[in-house]
Amino acid sequence: MTPAPVRVGLLGCGNVGAALVELVRGRADDIATRTGLHIDITKVAVRSTTKERGVELPEGVLTHDAAGLVVDPEIDVVVEVIGGIEPARELILSAMKAGKPVVTANKELIANVGAELFAAAEEAGVDLLFEAAVCGAIPLIRPLRESLAGEEIRRVMGIVNGTTNYILTRMTEAGVPYADALAEAQSLGYAERDPTADVEGFDAAAKAAIIASIAFGVRVVAGDVYNEGISGITQVDVAYAAKMGYVLKLLAVAERKDGALGVRVHPAMVPVSHPLAAVRDSFNAVFVEGDAVGELMFYGRGAGGFPTASAVLGDLVDASVNRHKGSHASIGALGKARIRPIDEVETAYYLNLDVVDEPGVLAAVAGVFGEHGVSIRSMEQEGLGGEARLVFITHIAREAAVQATLRDLHHLDAVDRITSVLRVIGTD
Ligand SMILES: NC(=O)c1ccc[n+]([C@@H]2O[C@H](COP(=O)([O-])OP(=O)(O)OC[C@H]3O[C@@H](n4cnc5c(N)ncnc54)[C@H](OP(=O)(O)O)[C@@H]3O)[C@@H](O)[C@H]2O)c1
Repeated sequence: MTPAPVRVGLLGCGNVGAALVELVRGRADDIATRTGLHIDITKVAVRSTTKERGVELPEGVLTHDAAGLVVDPEIDVVVEVIGGIEPARELILSAMKAGKPVVTANKELIANVGAELFAAAEEAGVDLLFEAAVCGAIPLIRPLRESLAGEEIRRVMGIVNGTTNYILTRMTEAGVPYADALAEAQSLGYAERDPTADVEGFDAAAKAAIIASIAFGVRVVAGDVYNEGISGITQVDVAYAAKMGYVLKLLAVAERKDGALGVRVHPAMVPVSHPLAAVRDSFNAVFVEGDAVGELMFYGRGAGGFPTASAVLGDLVDASVNRHKGSHASIGALGKARIRPIDEVETAYYLNLDVVDEPGVLAAVAGVFGEHGVSIRSMEQEGLGGEARLVFITHIAREAAVQATLRDLHHLDAVDRITSVLRVIGTD
């Protein structure tokens, strides 16, 4: 039987779009055998129709007219890989209103206006699929939405930014200073010339918002996510982490406790025995903890044209099959939950203090911890004279109590400097 054609309108033909064109070219026949549908990239909207794209497109496929493409009756499914909020948002809304399923890789869009788009998809009765928006090639949104739909998820923790994981891996394994590791990441094409979105944790925060929304079925936007990046991490932190049996990672954490959600991104010390500690270089991984399922980990390439296009193509096949059957997947209504401010978050902490080398210092410092109810799990004393240093790991403590402890330690004569404070994950 001749496969039924699926005419795809592609918005954007950059890293991901061009890789998708090539993947579809190579995989269309196999997909047709498996699904009875032949995927054809029929129109491609871009800004420049003369730019070299590294992929061949037949005459007349490229267009400037993105707004016309999304309502064109000759287009069945729309794929958005432009990026950014506008015009992507307007174009997707318009495509769905015209009855077309949409696939997008756009994390910024889903993390900021996802709820509006999900509602519009529901109203139009079409698919809006976005597997590639979080962790590129790694299947995560579909497992969270479908396979784990019956699971009571407690916590999701992920290494969701490959650039920062590469930098931290180089600092840990080769002793490379932060600035040099960043320069390496830039020369390899992992980091942008302006690396702010990656190193200050904004990219990870957008992904954390999407993960939290889907894992817990509540509305979380990027602005709800507490966020600290890795630009303040030093070789001293990395070396101490290693010495104490930990490795430093930039983590996105979403957890539910007492009906409230904590969603945050920050560097954290992870025990070397934890599965996330083994995630090196620019790889991503997401660790899910649930009541019945126990622990799961999803691992793979979080970015790159082809890995991301692979996730887009998976969604495209799904949306095409659903459309052919006259059905669509549903996100379900996103509820509301209280977002816990960072002050209420409970975790263990690592503190590194430069102290004066004289009797009674340890008792004075320990006294401050005790006053705020922060209990010490382990302590190491190092160096002499001007080099004297105390390194603590606490038991699980409330962020507010640790911040109060730090304020009082600042005023203690015995403490010269608080060198670093890091959260410790995976010991509870
Ligand atoms: N790259 C990755 O590894 C990766 C991973 C996960 C998710 N994503 C997401 O995938 C999306 C695309 O990323 P990318 O790396 O492929 O971006 P990119 O290389 O910058 O490509 C963007 C494409 O969109 C086109 N475009 C921009 N504004 C347009 C407009 N107003 N109308 C029509 N076309 C327009 C550009 O056209 P011209 O070529 O003519 O300028 C270009 O072809 C983003 O949402 C990104 O967050 C990317």
